Amino acid sequence: MMLHVPQVLSADEVRKIRTALDAADWIDGRETVGAQGAQVKRNRQLPEHSAVSRELGAMILAALARNPLFFAAALPLRFVPPLFNRYEGGEHYGFHIDGSVRAIPATGQQLRTDLSCTLFLGEPDEYEGGELEVVDTYGTHEVKLPAGDLILYPSTSLHRVQPVTRGARVCSFFWLQSMIRDDGRRSMLFELDQTIQKLRARHGENDETVALTGHYHNLLRMWSEV
Ligand code: NI
Repeated sequence: MMLHVPQVLSADEVRKIRTALDAADWIDGRETVGAQGAQVKRNRQLPEHSAVSRELGAMILAALARNPLFFAAALPLRFVPPLFNRYEGGEHYGFHIDGSVRAIPATGQQLRTDLSCTLFLGEPDEYEGGELEVVDTYGTHEVKLPAGDLILYPSTSLHRVQPVTRGARVCSFFWLQSMIRDDGRRSMLFELDQTIQKLRARHGENDETVALTGHYHNLLRMWSEV
């Protein structure tokens, strides 16, 4: 399931992050990929161990922690700290699938990448091109979101970033391991959660919403790996 999560960051938070990023030193993005990625990746990244990367990454994780829509869709167990990239002057990233297992730098703990996230840090009219293209069985989806918005998609997806031909595309990107490994089960839980919330908003809490909430949690208990 792909999901657009709007307004993960406020306009103020985006401004603060962009000011720090515009003053930062960037490196070749090929430093963090394997051999296949290095052949198709042309962009720049913030060094992942830099203080500015850690500080801004923590700000993004704090924003995600207070976002109920993101939590319901991702059911996150643990995150790779957010990274930052920048594309300009024709830079692009050709078709690839993200690596399946990554180490969390601070702890060395391994994480299975179930979900990939891109958080847009510039408005769509600041640059030409730079669409994130994600291929799934329903076709190819082009994604270019307002600053502060996030796209969540299964890390099993083939995807690319189209060349940026004017201006600069600045984003944060990161991966997470979900409590629910299977995308189909995670999608069903998300739909159930959203439906219960709509029922509760329309009719208030009642015996049926309590029973459905119990059903949701019992499925989560049955399927979760924590
Ligand atoms: Ni990727």
